[in-house]
Amino acid sequence: MKKIVLSRQEIVKRVRELGQMITRDFAHDDLLLIGVLNGAFIFTADLAREIGLPIEIDFIRVASYGSGTSSSGTVTFTKDVERPVAGKKIMLVEDIIDTGRTIARLQQHFLRLGAASVHICALIDKKERREVEVHPDYAGFVVAEGFLVGYGLDFAEQYRNLPDVYHLENPTQP
Ligand code: IMP
Ligand code: MG
Repeated sequence: MKKIVLSRQEIVKRVRELGQMITRDFAHDDLLLIGVLNGAFIFTADLAREIGLPIEIDFIRVASYGSGTSSSGTVTFTKDVERPVAGKKIMLVEDIIDTGRTIARLQQHFLRLGAASVHICALIDKKERREVEVHPDYAGFVVAEGFLVGYGLDFAEQYRNLPDVYHLENPTQP
C-alpha cells in the first residue's frame, strides 16, 4: 500500500523556489552541482534547470543500503566525480537525508579534497532516524518519518520513475 505525500505539482513549485534561492545565493560564484546517484538523478535534473547561473554538473554514486529500508551504517563510493573539485564551491544534491551518514561523509570527502565550500541541497529532510548532526542548507520538504518512494527514491530499485512521492506503508512487500 502506498499513499501520496508530495504531489508532482508541489514538487515542481518547491524545486523552482530552491533553484531561485540558489541562483540568488551563488550569483557571483562558480558552482559545481554534484548529484548523489541513484536517488537524486531526477531532482538534480529538475533543480539544475531552475538555476539561472553558468554551473557545472557532475555525479557521485554511493551505496549505503542493501535492498532493505535501513542504513547499513557504512558508506561505499561506487563512482567518483570527474570534475576537479579543489577550490570549487560545491552543492551536494541529495534525494533524502535519513540518518545523515551519507551526506556527512560526502561533505567531509569534498572538504578534504580542497573544495572551497560544500553546501547541501536535499529534496527531503527526514528527521526520524538522524544519527549524525547535519542540517541541509536547502531542504525541499521536511518529513517526520516513514519510508518514501517516487521521484527518484526507491525501494529495492523499484518506484524511482513515479512522478509523485509516496509513503510506502509496508516496505517488506514491494
Ligand atoms: P542516510 O545515510 O541514512 O542519511 O541515508 C541516505 C540514503 O538512504 C538516501 O540517499 C536514500 O538513498 C536512502 N533513503 C533514506 N530514506 C529513504 C526513504 O524513505 N526512501 C528511499 N530511500 C531512502
Ligand atoms: Mg536509495
